[in-house]
Amino acid sequence: MKRREFLLGSGAAAGALGLGAFGLEAGTQELAIQPASFALRDQVTNGMVSLSPDAPPPVLYGKQGEMMRLPVRNTLSDYTAMHWHGLRIPNGMDGVPYLTQMPIGPNEVFNYEFTPPDAGTYWYHPHCMTMEQMAHGLTGVMVIAEAEDPGFDSEQVINLRDFRLDEQDQFLPAYTARGAARAGTFGNVQTANWLDAPVYDHVSGGLVRLRVVNTDTTRIYKLHVNGATARIIAWDGHPTGIDLPMPTAEDPLLVGPGQRVDFAIQMPSGEGQTVELMAKLPGQPHRAMTQLRAVGRSVGRDLRELRPLPENPVAKPDLANAELHEFVFGWTPEGGEPTNGFCGSLGYNFWSINRKPWPGDAAQGVGPLATLQMGKSYVLRLRNESPNLHPIHLHGLAFVPLKSNLRTLAPLMTDTMLLLKDEVVEIALVADNPGDWAFHCHVIEHQKTGLTGFIRVT
Ligand code: C2O
Ligand code: CU
Ligand code: CU
Repeated sequence: MKRREFLLGSGAAAGALGLGAFGLEAGTQELAIQPASFALRDQVTNGMVSLSPDAPPPVLYGKQGEMMRLPVRNTLSDYTAMHWHGLRIPNGMDGVPYLTQMPIGPNEVFNYEFTPPDAGTYWYHPHCMTMEQMAHGLTGVMVIAEAEDPGFDSEQVINLRDFRLDEQDQFLPAYTARGAARAGTFGNVQTANWLDAPVYDHVSGGLVRLRVVNTDTTRIYKLHVNGATARIIAWDGHPTGIDLPMPTAEDPLLVGPGQRVDFAIQMPSGEGQTVELMAKLPGQPHRAMTQLRAVGRSVGRDLRELRPLPENPVAKPDLANAELHEFVFGWTPEGGEPTNGFCGSLGYNFWSINRKPWPGDAAQGVGPLATLQMGKSYVLRLRNESPNLHPIHLHGLAFVPLKSNLRTLAPLMTDTMLLLKDEVVEIALVADNPGDWAFHCHVIEHQKTGLTGFIRVT
């Protein structure tokens, strides 16, 4: 089997010395994470490519309703566990250490095996040593194809990620205590698929499905698309079902860590014309994260030829009989000692859910934040009591945002709700997947300094 070179250096001190190889071995797909040395800054300043010989972890392809086998072999010297973000799969396959499985030790294999019930754009990342391993690039995209081909001419996956590098292109520490206690620690090199503004060719006048995934540990992207007739067709994996306004430079789309957006793009008909995925970064002008370039003779497709994507089989909550549960996200009142286990602690408690900081991955005797009954409908009221934004993610279940005290929310199916400053949002779900499901902020520094818990469905 061909192993792919992959970026995974160690911490800043050791520079780009690798942590070893981390393999994901499967009959059909395999990925290996190996030490890689690279010179990103040079390459970026030269307007050129590539952080490592091979860039991001491979896009894993599956098909709705078809079993996937993904044995993960850990050849790192650290523990790990792999989580499949957004997939509604059995709890034992969810990859959360101490909650759904023991961490995967060095030289151990864990056989992940599941059948994705939903089509759409998902992703995978470790849930053990999360900060360190994600900061070093272990965040890959998963595409689950619809049972029936929706009729695009091509697809483009864009994995948006920042890296934190020093002048010598070595990794800076993945986080700072100051950042963790506030909005998070931001990277200083922005990439799309680990590249600086890559250009991808697609046929002129063709219909492209652009799958954009924010796998960053911290950054909330503000996106819009330039230069094409385009439409948002899916949000956090699930078809939108309704027409959403296209974001603009003045009114960009907020995509938090963990979130995904699929655009249907009608490529320009003139050869060489480009479509740009634009991002607004603080203190900078809008910049193109990536470009799609029209090539060849126009095939003359039209967005209106696309049928709406088929709905995923997610149960609709029965709001009349839903029980309400409240969750408050905020600072940590009393601190308290974080514990560690094998999965890495950031050593601080800054954040809390319902005023309790999650004490750490291996925490003993920490019960669920709520216990939901299998098959029943629930409304969860999420209150952000902090001035920082929090992308709140629930594993194993999909939910619908109902209302906010600050804005009108589209009734989109999602797994991650980006809470604005002082926002109170109600979401609704059917508790139809049994198990203990992690519930946390996807700013990893928040997650790992208290803003975590779990919800039990029984
Ligand atoms: Cu994408 Cu608990 O994570
Ligand atoms: Cu998840
Ligand atoms: Cu947060």
